[in-house]
Amino acid sequence: MAVLERLRPDHAPALLAFERENREYFAARVPDRGDAYFEEFDDRHQELIEAQEAGEIHFHVLVAEGGEIVGRVNLVDVDAGAGSAELGYRLAEKATGRGLATRGVREVCRLAVEEYGLSRLIAVVALGNTASSAVLARAGFGAVGGVTLDDGEPGTAYELDLGELIPG
Ligand SMILES: CC(C)(COP(=O)(O)OP(=O)(O)OC[C@H]1O[C@@H](n2cnc3c(N)ncnc32)[C@H](O)[C@@H]1OP(=O)(O)O)[C@@H](O)C(=O)NCCC(=O)NCCS
Repeated sequence: MAVLERLRPDHAPALLAFERENREYFAARVPDRGDAYFEEFDDRHQELIEAQEAGEIHFHVLVAEGGEIVGRVNLVDVDAGAGSAELGYRLAEKATGRGLATRGVREVCRLAVEEYGLSRLIAVVALGNTASSAVLARAGFGAVGGVTLDDGEPGTAYELDLGELIPG
């Protein structure tokens, strides 16, 4: 069973392999990361580790037996003063359909309260991304309104008051 780990420097090769192997799958659902992301992966990974150490982000990977990364669940735009952050996640295509994203999101929600001292998470989902909306619903998030995503597409904003976490 995959375990959730906080992002570390040594996750870099497995994380790059995960993003490469699933690039087409992701690009059909969320905006493609672009070639530069892959070419500059190691520099960016180091920057992420530094941002994480500064408390600006909290990144996590789902690691299968043998060290293969099969998913990631991230908190970005951490606002310690407001107690809020934005949630994002993605699974390897072969790891979907088994509740792994839901489990990972629930685990990160728990970490958000217990380890990171947050009280509220938001997430934004493109209108047609029903698999993603279902993950949020299962984790207890509620829709709070329509938004325009970074790529200009219409989406829905979701919010979770971490004081009202659904157990399990
Ligand atoms: C969004 C994404 C992570 C959802 O993955 P997923 O596998 O559908 O989500 P889960 O891991 O929660 O699994 C849910 C499925 O497992 C099934 N399942 C089995 N056991 C389960 C359990 N114990 N708990 C929950 N679901 C379970 C559910 O019935 C559901 O199946 P269905 O899709 O046939 O209805 C995945 O589609 C993805 O990576 N997409 C590309 C990136 C993306 O869109 N990210 C989100 C941007 S907002």
